[in-house]
Amino acid sequence: MAELTIVGRDGTEKTIEGKKGWSVMENIRDAGFDELLALCGGCCSCATCHVHVDQAWLDRLPAMTGDEDDLLDSSSHRNGASRLSCQIEFGDALDGLRVTIAQED
Ligand code: FES
Repeated sequence: MAELTIVGRDGTEKTIEGKKGWSVMENIRDAGFDELLALCGGCCSCATCHVHVDQAWLDRLPAMTGDEDDLLDSSSHRNGASRLSCQIEFGDALDGLRVTIAQED
């Protein structure tokens, strides 16, 4: 069992048992956070799955691709903790991960 904690835009926090092999984006949507639009369905072309990752986890995530980096540049809410949640596959190694859904652009 691997847990994922999600914080919504209104501060609502929910800890779920994350589905392994699903992206963090898919897990967030499945947990009922419809505010995460994920318009492109996870093919790294919309940036509407933007989250802020808790500091302790930043170095433990897979490296960002150039495409993800470029897309995040289009967000005015980007900071050092920004990632696109569709680009992070959830699994045992991420047990305890905590992410906050970024403000809408
Ligand atoms: S869902 Fe579109 S970039 Fe992640």
